[in-house]
Amino acid sequence: MTDTVPSPAEPVPSVADLVARRYAFAEPDPAHTAALAAARERSGATGPGTIEAMLGHRSCRRFTGEPVDDALLDVLLAAAFSAPSKSDLQQCSVIVVDDPERRQAIADLIPTMPWIQECGRFLLFCADSGRIRRVAQQAGTPFANDHLDAVLNAAADAAIHLASFIWAAESLGLGTCPISVVRNHIEAVATAVELPEQVFPLAGMCVGWPERLLPFSPRLPPTVTVHRDRYQPDQVAETEAVASYSRRRTAAGRPVPPDQQLDVDRWGVADPYGWAEEKARMVARRERDQLARFLADQGFGLG
Ligand SMILES: Cc1cc2nc3c(=O)[nH]c(=O)nc-3n(C[C@H](O)[C@H](O)[C@H](O)COP(=O)(O)O)c2cc1C
Repeated sequence: MTDTVPSPAEPVPSVADLVARRYAFAEPDPAHTAALAAARERSGATGPGTIEAMLGHRSCRRFTGEPVDDALLDVLLAAAFSAPSKSDLQQCSVIVVDDPERRQAIADLIPTMPWIQECGRFLLFCADSGRIRRVAQQAGTPFANDHLDAVLNAAADAAIHLASFIWAAESLGLGTCPISVVRNHIEAVATAVELPEQVFPLAGMCVGWPERLLPFSPRLPPTVTVHRDRYQPDQVAETEAVASYSRRRTAAGRPVPPDQQLDVDRWGVADPYGWAEEKARMVARRERDQLARFLADQGFGLG
């Protein structure tokens, strides 16, 4: 699994290969390739396909520094805003942070992620419940659902638009990296770009020409993430599937040296240090305590 930028000369893997790689399965299932070919034949769709691009997704944290010009960004944003939107309320706003001082202010808050400053363009994907409230106000109608659902609806719109932006950018060979760590500094970030009431940043977005892509990151197997007809709470099977996934990832990747393991002071050095160990340590870190207060201050009813 290489972390270099793919060259057009490389052979195109089959869909079965791509699905297997996504789950770190050793055996591709030829039925996956056949199913996609049959669906394409039925619909008349021709490749190269979105499915292959999505299966090949990798985030990017090393950019060449080349600019992403305005016209290209316009197209990517139009693609992102083509995403579905809950009830057509269109509760996503994007801030393109070009002003060097404002971008520096955000980058300075997160010195561990220099890619915020190094990427071609930096954006903030915001959940925006304020615009539709102003629309209602101007029409003389109340905003009747000022409770947690308003936060979820706007956040869902922002998340779907963010994902759509990623697929659009990656379809052109651009690299992307969302930055949810902006929410660790949500007040300062909101101040840096002057967010009004009822708007909050869901995530930042680095976009640019990739110098190097991140190593490929397999996902949990569908036995864990996909349920048939009802949620199947088989704890034993889940524990074994997660452990086995973690082992496959460890085997496929590079060993994590002690100085790259999380919070060794607290949890010690683990060997092997796999996905489960790392994610368990990650969620043991307390962060973003200020979020509910910030949202309340922004004028959201959280009841
Ligand atoms: C909502 C969201 C927020 C993220 N926030 C960050 C972040 O703050 N910093 C970062 O470097 N990567 C961030 N990422 C990238 C993830 O770390 C990455 O998607 C994950 O490790 C899986 O790797 P892959 O995207 O290469 O498959 C974020 C991804 C998502 C979807």
